[in-house]
Amino acid sequence: MQIIETERLILRPFRVGDATDLFAYLRAPTAPCFLKLKLADLAEAEIEVMKRALDQGCVAICLKETGQLIGDLFGGAGEDDEDETASVCWNLNPQFGGQGYAFEATRALFDHLFRAKGFRRLYAYVEDHNKPSQRLCEKLGMRREGVFFEFVSFTNDDAGNPIYENTMQYAILRREWMGAVSRS
Ligand SMILES: CC(C)(COP(=O)(O)OP(=O)(O)OC[C@H]1O[C@@H](n2cnc3c(N)ncnc32)[C@H](O)[C@@H]1OP(=O)(O)O)[C@@H](O)C(=O)NCCC(=O)NCCS
Repeated sequence: MQIIETERLILRPFRVGDATDLFAYLRAPTAPCFLKLKLADLAEAEIEVMKRALDQGCVAICLKETGQLIGDLFGGAGEDDEDETASVCWNLNPQFGGQGYAFEATRALFDHLFRAKGFRRLYAYVEDHNKPSQRLCEKLGMRREGVFFEFVSFTNDDAGNPIYENTMQYAILRREWMGAVSRS
């Protein structure tokens, strides 16, 4: 991916040196959908960073002022190319939540995916209990298109039975994004 600069952030590919910052939030992922990404130690974080460095759809969110990695985005790695459609997801170190960084980063990524990469439709899956992500989708102008009941399971209960999540799909079309941007 190309480097994207916003007011306070740099969006760039992952690179050697990111492991400590990545481990800071993937040692204990807060969203059930990211539990499988949980890292046991710094050595695992270093391997994960190398994987991410090779993944075109993986974006490191860094503070412009300090260079610190504070979260990541996934999206637009060539999936569903026929339909010019891509899923997008986000994960911010909770220490940096509530400061508008997620919105600033996703807004820049959406603009890049629609304008530079030519995507026609972006969508995100969000669990029904994940209010911060729903709020983010709404601020991005995404439409809630449906709820899939007991759609997926990321974890089991104490008896070993899967806990199924109700999952919402949010989406926005390029023409909607362009229309909103030209009005703002
Ligand atoms: C979802 C997630 C990215 C949202 O992060 P966030 O920091 O709450 O989101 P935002 O960047 O939109 O910032 C939120 C608040 O910062 C506030 N803020 C503070 N300073 C700000 C500034 N300078 N500029 C803009 N907003 C600012 C805003 O008021 C905003 O609150 P509002 O939405 O009520 O207006 C984060 O909770 C997360 O990573 N969760 C775990 C991973 C996850 O659930 N991923 C999705 C899986 S489906």
